[in-house]
Amino acid sequence: MRILHPRFILTPDKILTDQAVAFDSHIQAIGPKEELVHRFPDAALFEEPEALVMPGFANPHVHLEFSANKATLSYGDFIPWLYSVIEHREDLLPRCDQECLNTALRSIVASGTTAIGAVSSYGEDIEACAKSPLKVQLFNEIIGSNPAAADVMYASFLERFHQCKKLESDHFKAAVAVHSPYSVHYVLAKKAIEIARRENALVSTHFMESRAEREWLDQGTGEFAHFFKKLLGQTRPVNDPQEFLDLFREVKTLFVHMVWANEQELKKVASMEATIVHCPISNRLLGNGVLDLDRIAPIPYTLATDGLSSNYTLSLYEELKAALFVHPDKEATTFAKELLIRSTKGGYEALNFEGGVVQKGAPADLQIVAIPQDLKDPEDIYLHLILHTQKPKAVYIQGVAHA
Ligand code: BEZ
Ligand code: FE2
Repeated sequence: MRILHPRFILTPDKILTDQAVAFDSHIQAIGPKEELVHRFPDAALFEEPEALVMPGFANPHVHLEFSANKATLSYGDFIPWLYSVIEHREDLLPRCDQECLNTALRSIVASGTTAIGAVSSYGEDIEACAKSPLKVQLFNEIIGSNPAAADVMYASFLERFHQCKKLESDHFKAAVAVHSPYSVHYVLAKKAIEIARRENALVSTHFMESRAEREWLDQGTGEFAHFFKKLLGQTRPVNDPQEFLDLFREVKTLFVHMVWANEQELKKVASMEATIVHCPISNRLLGNGVLDLDRIAPIPYTLATDGLSSNYTLSLYEELKAALFVHPDKEATTFAKELLIRSTKGGYEALNFEGGVVQKGAPADLQIVAIPQDLKDPEDIYLHLILHTQKPKAVYIQGVAHA
């Protein structure tokens, strides 16, 4: 048992002062330090007068298999980026061996994240994720718009899903990713989602990430028309967006990006058990614009980094800084609080894991973070945490220190 006595505890909705937290794998008590020391006389006491304790972050959308990318892929515009992924994936993927995956996973923990949603295209990251201390939803991805290749693609997906299923534990769950409405044939998407429904697995899909996707799915024109004709000999989209969305009615889904979603689609998603995953850095770098957070209400949203295929970091602290600056109409102090709550409690809820809160009985997935010494008003802490933190001082998952 440990007792931490910081200057503040962010629960995260509330700021507690003059309180300590006692935990083993789970949080056993929150209260005045003297009371906890008396109750747990064998616990190790850690005084942290210049730091706070808060929940670890959840990063619900990351492509670990692309972690070798720094400057190989072309940023700036979505379609050229997609061409560059296709052109370079054969050399990028082998460059991310198990050591590269482990380095990425360690960097995620060191930056305060304690739960992730890992989108796995090839199954190369399954073992590393299962062995990691992180809480992981492993989204086995299905892709393939060509009906001729559907059986092969489905078999590959099923094999990876079952491999994952065998490794399931309290902290590692087999989940399903349907790549997108432009890249997964309706029949294939339906079959994969049916597996998720049967297995009670979480689902993730990229939806309306780019203007090109909007135009292709609405009119069968634009940059994707050239792309599909040239690469796959395809002249028509394989999904109607509304019908595609209807496939997700009976499963819990993370809809990633949604920047170009229309009113009708948002209304549909609002009626489902769904969370929007907002990746502002990825959207910025690939020229996809900015998600309108007022327009998506009341759908819950949370934040994610996406992979190193469209980001320079897997740290939520960087993502939160970016979020602050790409939404200039949001008042900074209240928005900072909202972002921190969504990235902890909200992200954990989206990933179906217990935690993301500092509360009696919750798993001890925590970070200790330095507080700027000159902080005057405690309510300002949310904003300054985002502005001034590069990484936390310590990270605990199930009560064990990992960074
Ligand atoms: C496909 O497999 O059909 C596909 C893959 C990537 C982008 C678009 C389509
Ligand atoms: Fe993604």
